[in-house]
Amino acid sequence: MSEYAERMKKKAAAFKGRDDLLVLGIESSCDETACAVLRGKKILSDKIASQVEIHKRFGGVVPEIASRNHVLAIDNLVKEALDTAGVKQEELDAIGVTYGAGLLGALLVGESYAKAFAYALDKPLYAVNHIRGHIAVNFVAAPELTPPFVCLIASGGHTAVALAKDYDEIQMLGTTQDDACGEAFDKVARVLNLPYPGGPQIQTLAEKGKPVIHLPTPFKGSDTLDFSFSGIKTAVINYANTLKMRGEELPAADLACSFQELVTDIMSDRLVRAAHMCNCNKVVIAGGVGANIRLRAKVAEKAAANNLTAYYPPIRLCTDNGVMIAAQAMCMIKAGRSPADYDLDADAGVKP
Ligand SMILES: Nc1ncnc2c1ncn2[C@@H]1O[C@H](COP(=O)(O)OP(=O)(O)OP(=O)(O)O)[C@@H](O)[C@H]1O
Ligand SMILES: [Mg+2]
Repeated sequence: MSEYAERMKKKAAAFKGRDDLLVLGIESSCDETACAVLRGKKILSDKIASQVEIHKRFGGVVPEIASRNHVLAIDNLVKEALDTAGVKQEELDAIGVTYGAGLLGALLVGESYAKAFAYALDKPLYAVNHIRGHIAVNFVAAPELTPPFVCLIASGGHTAVALAKDYDEIQMLGTTQDDACGEAFDKVARVLNLPYPGGPQIQTLAEKGKPVIHLPTPFKGSDTLDFSFSGIKTAVINYANTLKMRGEELPAADLACSFQELVTDIMSDRLVRAAHMCNCNKVVIAGGVGANIRLRAKVAEKAAANNLTAYYPPIRLCTDNGVMIAAQAMCMIKAGRSPADYDLDADAGVKP
C-alpha cells in the first residue's frame, strides 16, 4: 500500500459514525457523464451531460465517441456540480467514482479525472461498482430504507435479483442467462423501428396497444430466480419477419405492449418470490428499466398484495447519474471499506 493510501485510510477512519459527509460522485461508464454532490442523504447537486443525441444516429452507444465526449464534459460538469451545491472542492470529505462495469475507455476518463482530483486535494477516493450504485441510490431516494432487502437489478447491461444483506454486501439469487432486460427493450425497439434508447419508446408505444400477441415465457413451470430474455426477443423478431414476408402490416403497438407486459410480469414475479424465499419484507428496484411505469405499477401491486414495502427511485435516478455513485461511496464508507490507491484500474466486466 502506498504512503498516499495509508494516509487516506487514516482519514477515512475518522468518517465512522458520520451521516453528514460531503461526497462528490463521478460517473462515466457509458454515454452519460454525471456528477453529483451529496451531504449525507441530501442531494446538493445532480448534473448530467447526456450523449443520447450524439449516439442516436448510430442506433446505440459508440464506445470511442463516448470516451471523447466524456473528456469534453467532465471538468465543467464537476465544477458545475460543486457550484450548484455551494461547496468548495477543499470542503469535500470524499470522492466516489465508477470503476466498472461499463465501457473501458469511458470508465478510464472518469476514473483518471477522479484519481487526479482526489490526489491533488488529498481526499479519499472510493472505487464504486456501478450496479451497486444503482441499488444505493435508493438510500437517498428513501432515507428510511435500511438493509436487508431484496432487490431487482434491471438495467441496460444487467438483470438479477439479489439480497442486499448490508450496505455493501450483496448475495445474488438469480441472474440473466443471456440478454439483460434493458438490452432486450433496446433490441425489440430496433425491430419496431424505434430510436435508441428503446425502453422509454416501447413504454410510450405500448400505451396504444393490447397484450394480445403470444410470446414464449422462459423457464415456464420452473421456480428458478434466473432470467432469460433472448428467446422473447427472438420471438418478436420472428413474428415481425413473418409478417413482413407476407406483406402484412406490423401491429407495433400490440407487439410493444405484449413484450412489455411479459417481461415486467417476469421481473415483478421474481422479485416478490425472492422476498418470500429470503423472508424479507422490503423490495427495491434498481437500474434504468426501473423507470418503466408498468414494472413500477406491478411491483407496487404485488408488494401490497404480499405485505411487502416497495421502494423505487424517482425516474430521473433510475438511469445513470452521479447521485448513485456518491450514494454507493457513502455505503462503502459505512461498511468500513478502504479508499482506493492511486494505482486503481478500471474493470469493464466487474460483477455486481
Ligand atoms: N421507461 C423505461 N422502460 C423500459 N426500459 C427503460 C426505460 N427507461 C430506460 N430504460 C432502459 O434502461 C436502460 C438504461 O439503463 P441504465 O442506465 O441502468 O443502463 P446502463 O448503465 O447502460 O447499463 P448497466 O447499468 O447495466 O451498466 C436502457 O436499456 C433503456 O432502454
Ligand atoms: Mg447503469
